[in-house]
Amino acid sequence: GEENADHVMSLIRSIPGFPKEGIIFRDFMPVLADARGLSILMDALEAALPVPADQFDAVAGLEARGFLFGPALAARLGKGFVAVRKAGKLPPETVHEDYALEYGTASIEIETSAVKPGDRVLVVDDLIATGGTAKAAADLIEKCGGTVVGFSFVMELEGLSGTDVLAGYPLSTLVTMPA
Ligand code: PRP
Ligand code: MG
Repeated sequence: GEENADHVMSLIRSIPGFPKEGIIFRDFMPVLADARGLSILMDALEAALPVPADQFDAVAGLEARGFLFGPALAARLGKGFVAVRKAGKLPPETVHEDYALEYGTASIEIETSAVKPGDRVLVVDDLIATGGTAKAAADLIEKCGGTVVGFSFVMELEGLSGTDVLAGYPLSTLVTMPA
């Protein structure tokens, strides 16, 4: 209910100028540190699934902060967890995807064997900003022959058109905040 939402919102910290000038960092670690906050957050993620749980086989989470929620959500739903890691961390065979950042590029990978052709996968991350990271993760899963059924985010930063980048995919977000 509203009381629970207020409790979570009261725990999200906004830090202007971190990690660099002009950026407002939205810190939800205090929500995780709070027993009630964590419980509310996990219940909310599960309640807000973009598609019913019987329509996917696995949950994929994005390093690093997607690892805070992905495995916990997967365990609640009785699914396996697929780790999408920053490049160079996983042993072969891996599938690789480059994507654009505000400045420069980044790369992520999954183990090829982690997603089988036909697997239906829900992608979980803490935050969508430009959508670049989430789109790259979807491309990786699809390269392996998997199907991305949708995305679950804790937070969306408004005004960066991240959700446009993921147009066509079912998507759920718990909290929307100005970028
Ligand atoms: C952050 C955040 C998302 C991504 C969103 O990850 O956790 O994964 O940026 O940005 P985008 O929508 O513009 O792609 P980051 O790699 O900065 O940090 P992390 O390793 O702490 O998750
Ligand atoms: Mg991240």
